Amino acid sequence: MPITSRAQAHALDAKDPLALLRGRFRVPDGITYLVGHSLGPVSEPALTRLKAHAEGAWAKDMVGAWNSAGWIDLAGRVGDRLAGLIGAEPGSVTVCDSVSVNLFKLVAAALPLAEGAPVIRIESDEFPTDRYIAEGLARTLGVPCEILPPGASDAALIKGGVLIRSAVNYRTSEIADIARTENAARAGGALVIWDLSHATGLIALELGQKGALLATGCTYKYVNGGPGAPAFLYVASGLCDRLQTPIPGWLGHKRPFDFDPAYEAADGVGRFVAGTPPILSLAALDGALDIFEGLDFSHLHEKAQILGDICIRQAENLGLRTLSPGPGKARGGHVSLQHDHGYEIVQALKERGRQADFRAPDTLRFGFSPLILSYTDVWDTMVDLADIMATQLWTAPRFALRAKVT
Ligand SMILES: Cc1ncc(COP(=O)(O)O)c(C=O)c1O
Repeated sequence: MPITSRAQAHALDAKDPLALLRGRFRVPDGITYLVGHSLGPVSEPALTRLKAHAEGAWAKDMVGAWNSAGWIDLAGRVGDRLAGLIGAEPGSVTVCDSVSVNLFKLVAAALPLAEGAPVIRIESDEFPTDRYIAEGLARTLGVPCEILPPGASDAALIKGGVLIRSAVNYRTSEIADIARTENAARAGGALVIWDLSHATGLIALELGQKGALLATGCTYKYVNGGPGAPAFLYVASGLCDRLQTPIPGWLGHKRPFDFDPAYEAADGVGRFVAGTPPILSLAALDGALDIFEGLDFSHLHEKAQILGDICIRQAENLGLRTLSPGPGKARGGHVSLQHDHGYEIVQALKERGRQADFRAPDTLRFGFSPLILSYTDVWDTMVDLADIMATQLWTAPRFALRAKVT
């Protein structure tokens, strides 16, 4: 049922099973944080774990903490917790590097296994880093990189090769059909590397069930792992032993502390770890994952959908163009609206404590993290947006000053 009044939004808040979780996050008073799809807010367990590793293990045990605090196995342990979030088997996920670097490693490792002529494919509207990595790696290896129109990649899978694909598109918020794409990939002997950045911590991905074999994703968005939190990397069990990482670093060695001059890849996904993991960031991420213990992803996604529906309906009333799937249609956690002066409008909203983001050239993005937002938060934001549009407040010159990060 569409939400058409503040009273209705308030009634939904009163029976929201996720409402209590807001208290476990630190969001400053007076801020409506609609940017959880970019950098999730800090949670109490993340801060506690970070402090424990910094002031406890590091300050007291120093280098000994690699053993005493179990730092040497932390990436694998946190990987197992993330495996639970994405519906993968324990042992199939590790935490390392960034999404950009992990895409590089996975595509390079997958190419020799894919059937057909070696080629990297990607749709033109994927996140820029995914495309840059595809094109850069193709140049390095001397293989072609085919840029496909949006929606054309499933049909191309019949030709084999490696495809990079997002589970949720960063701009439109459209959700890919992982099972369908994987079936098409099997038919052509292609391999798909999934970018799960905008899906992890929000949607029940069920990677194992859907037949996904290779994936990476960031942990600083809906997982709330913190600024620069390391990414994760997934390889379906059974496949790993046939893959070679193009960055064979010492911590991906089978016995790193033998200091063997010859490289021998570790068993399983651990071979994709190249160098020393960022322990303090891993510790914060480990704490952030406490929030998800016992949570039902269908609640998270359903709430994000309703919050997005409120936004889209009101935006349509204001005559704003919507890039995302409309009310009642499946989408990720954010909604993208378009306006030629999107940047200025986002700044005007920020002045009122409503934080959204802007993606050049003309996209206003609102992220609906269901852990920290209420239905009335979103209703009230849209009332402010309506006022900013009606009064043309955004035309004030102070809103046109561009910051480095938008
Ligand atoms: C879909 C997607 N992929 C990749 C990235 C970049 O990941 P990283 O900075 O970890 O390389 C982002 C960043 O926002 C993203 O939205």
